[in-house]
Amino acid sequence: MKKKQKQIQIQTEKYTKYKSLNDLSDIEKQLFDVAFAKMQDAYAPYSNFHVGSAVLLKNGVIIGGSNQENASYGLSMCAERTALFNAGSNFPTTEVEKLVVVTKNFNENTSQDEKAEGVLAPCGACRQVILEYENRFQNDIKILLMDTKGRIYKFNSVKQMLPFAFGGYFLK
Ligand code: THU
Repeated sequence: MKKKQKQIQIQTEKYTKYKSLNDLSDIEKQLFDVAFAKMQDAYAPYSNFHVGSAVLLKNGVIIGGSNQENASYGLSMCAERTALFNAGSNFPTTEVEKLVVVTKNFNENTSQDEKAEGVLAPCGACRQVILEYENRFQNDIKILLMDTKGRIYKFNSVKQMLPFAFGGYFLK
């Protein structure tokens, strides 16, 4: 008889939920303002899905970014990575403390379910890049997301949404 294998459940996705932007600190509200403003600058003629992001650095500087698409679709860049790469290249020694990502382009059929569909969350590639910034500065990054109803989901680290991650520590 086949031996029964142990099933292991990984606990991820621990977050704090807020009813609205009003429940956030001033700096967090400001990050959402910047992210929504940046969303207007998105270059997304192919998907028509406009995304804005904003990151807060330890020195108080806020840097925004929007998605930048390309006719060769695979070369397109997400808003989160645009913002992070901007921060990393202009402030190479400054920790990233918080990251916000927003859209107003939810598909009208988007589910209201808070599990995934109703909340705009960073894609897998962006999670990997956010992890790199956490590791680079030895500093967890708070990630704030918004759902279709304006509720906020705050994660204390990208590790809460990236189990079994691959990091530089594997490399020699
Ligand atoms: N996109 C982002 O910028 N961030 C996300 O979190 C999800 C997806 C962009 C990539 C592409 O330009 C468009 O949204 C549709 O996938």
